[in-house]
Amino acid sequence: MSQERAKALLAAHVVQWCKPKMSIGLGAGSTVLQVVEALQYQPHHTMQIVVASCETLARCQDLGIEATLMQAVAHIDLYIDGADEVDPDWTLLKGRGGAMTGEKLCAQMAKDFVVLVDDSKLVRYLGEKWPVLPIEVVPWARSSVARSIVKKGGRPELRSQKSDMGNDILDCYGLALHEPETLSAWCNQLTGVVAHGLFVNEVPQHVLRSDGKSVIACQKREQ
Ligand code: 5RP
Repeated sequence: MSQERAKALLAAHVVQWCKPKMSIGLGAGSTVLQVVEALQYQPHHTMQIVVASCETLARCQDLGIEATLMQAVAHIDLYIDGADEVDPDWTLLKGRGGAMTGEKLCAQMAKDFVVLVDDSKLVRYLGEKWPVLPIEVVPWARSSVARSIVKKGGRPELRSQKSDMGNDILDCYGLALHEPETLSAWCNQLTGVVAHGLFVNEVPQHVLRSDGKSVIACQKREQ
């Protein structure tokens, strides 16, 4: 319950950052859906709303908010998304909702990237609470990538749901998520991998957290 309250508070806070004529990117997941709810009460008509998932697009359309997928867009002023885990360096673990490819594309084209999390998502190291790396693969590469994951000591499980782009998603257990840069580089060199849930090069400018009572800007660990 307090997690739901935290998401609503974060959404109400972040929509104040969304000003007329801005290009606003929206990721995926229940936190972002709360942002969509809050956005309907803002003067959004001159904003360009760019979404990273079909579910977010559908919710925008339900509420009469004009939105577009990102294919036709080259720049986003402010990209708003949730995360499954955030470590002290603000490296993110994402993809529980399977939308990490669109989310990564949006994060890469955004001038400003803000992540909204309830306090349970702040971890000491990635994988502390949700030890799964979702990897999106083109269907023809599914077995070959799965074999490489097994050789690496991981346990891939094929998700029953395909990604928005029609690809397969392997939920991979047993990988060294606490070494995100090394793991990310290793995944990226596998032929057939489209994207994975480690955001090591797409570090947000802001992380806002909430305990369900207030919204607090997080401090990043000094490098
Ligand atoms: C979807 C994501 C989401 O941002 C992440 O799963 C968090 O979701 P929620 O806001 O529902 O907790 O990465 O691919």
